Amino acid sequence: MESAIAGVVRCLGASLKNLGLYPATHPLVRTPVEKCRLELAPFFADRSELALTVSDGTLVLEGVPIFQLTSSLELFMARLGAIGLPAVIFERGVSVEDIELFVRFLHETKEQGLPIPEITSRLARWGVTHIRVTATDAEEKDDFTLAREVYGNALNVVVRALKDVRNGKIPDGAESDRAVREMSGMVSQNRDAMLALTLIKNFDEYTYNHSVNVSVLSLTVAETLGLSETERIGIGVAGLLHDVGKTQVALDLIRKPGTLTVEEFEEIKKHPEEGFAILGKMTHIKESTRAVVREHHMRFDRTGYPRPEPEYRMNPYSHVIAVADCFDALTTMRSYQKARTPQQALDIMKKLAGKSLDPDLVALMDRSLGVYPVGTMVRLNTMEVGVVTGTPGAGKGAPKVAILFDRSGNPLAVPQGVDLKEPDPSSGRPRRMILGTVNPLMHPPVSMSGILQAVSA
Ligand SMILES: [Fe+2]
Ligand SMILES: [Fe+2]
Repeated sequence: MESAIAGVVRCLGASLKNLGLYPATHPLVRTPVEKCRLELAPFFADRSELALTVSDGTLVLEGVPIFQLTSSLELFMARLGAIGLPAVIFERGVSVEDIELFVRFLHETKEQGLPIPEITSRLARWGVTHIRVTATDAEEKDDFTLAREVYGNALNVVVRALKDVRNGKIPDGAESDRAVREMSGMVSQNRDAMLALTLIKNFDEYTYNHSVNVSVLSLTVAETLGLSETERIGIGVAGLLHDVGKTQVALDLIRKPGTLTVEEFEEIKKHPEEGFAILGKMTHIKESTRAVVREHHMRFDRTGYPRPEPEYRMNPYSHVIAVADCFDALTTMRSYQKARTPQQALDIMKKLAGKSLDPDLVALMDRSLGVYPVGTMVRLNTMEVGVVTGTPGAGKGAPKVAILFDRSGNPLAVPQGVDLKEPDPSSGRPRRMILGTVNPLMHPPVSMSGILQAVSA
C-alpha cells in the first residue's frame, strides 16, 4: 500500500514539474497523470475518497507519511503550501481530466494563501469535479469560512449534476442531499453568513449560483416556517435542482439577452417538466421534491407553466421555491436587467403577492429578512455609508453594519464593523443610527465576501 501511495504522489509531482518545462499536451505531462489515475483506482475499491494532506512539512496520503522526497515532490508540496491548500480530497470517480486540470491549476495559480472557499469555487469554474480541497481538522474556522465552504461544495454538486445531465448521465441524488443537509445546518447555525453568500453574484455562471442561492433562500423560508428537517431538506433539494431541466434547452437560448420570441419561450417553458423527468431517474429524491420542481413556475394564481388543470393540486412548497427564485433573480444583474437591492426586490415582490406569488410567503420573507436585509447599503446619521452584514435576532434590535465610506464619502481602507448600540458618551444615546438606504449604484461595487471577511476577522 505504501509504495502505491508514494506512486500516486510521485506521478502528480512529475506531471507538475514537467508542466513547467513542456506544453500541457506533452506526453511527459500527460502520461504521469494517466498513471496517477491508474494507481488511484484500487484505493476506491473499499473507500469513496482519499485524503492528501501536508502536515508539519510532511506529505501524508491517507495517514501514510511520505518521507523520501524527490525534487518533483518537493515542488508539488511547495505549490500546495504557497496556494494555501492544507488538504486535497480525491473522490471516487476522479478522472484523468480532473487530475490534469488540478495539476494545471497548481501550476498556473500565482496568488498565495488563497482562502479555501475561493480555491473551491475556482476549481469548480475550471471544471474539476472529483477533487476537492478542505482545511485540516485542526484549524479553527469561523462561521463565515464554514459557510463559504458549504456554499462552495453545493456549487460543486450543481456543476457536476448539470454536467452529468448534459453528458447523458444520471446525477447522484445522494450528493445533492448531502450538500443540502450541510447548507440546512449552516442556515440554522448562522443564517446571515449563508444569506450574505447569496448576494455574491457570479455573472458568468448564473445557473449554478442561482441554483445554490434558491436552495439557501428556500431553506431560510422553510426554517422560518418551522418545518421538520425532512421537509426542509426536501425543499432545499428542490431549490438546488429546480432548474436542472434547463440542461435540455439550448445554451444560447438560456443565455439570450432581451426578450424571447414566442417559440423561444415555448422552449424555455419545457424546463420544469424536463427537470421532473430527470429527478425521476435519480436516487435519494422524494416524489414531493420532484413535484415541486415541476411546479416551480405554475404560480400562486395558477397562470404559469405547465398550466395546471383545474383539479390539479399543487404542492404548497412549490410556492416557497417560487419566492426564492424570484428574489434571487431580481437581486442579480443580468444582461437585460440591473440588480435590485434586497429591499427593492421585496417591494416588487409585494406587488406580485396574491398574483404570481404566495402573499403569506412574501410577507414572511419580508419579515424574516428584516427592514434592512444583509447586503443593503445604508446611510447613518453620522453621514457615513455602510453595508448591513447581519440582521437582528427575531426581527428586533439593530442590524450589524460595516462602514465603507466616511462622512466625506471617502472609502475606508478596511471596512469597519460598528455596533449600532454603542452609546455616545456625552448624550448616552446610540452614537450611530440608520437614516435610510442608499442606492448602491451611487458607489463603486462592493464585494460582500471581502467585507464580511474583514469584519469577521
Ligand atoms: Fe425555472
Ligand atoms: Fe430559477
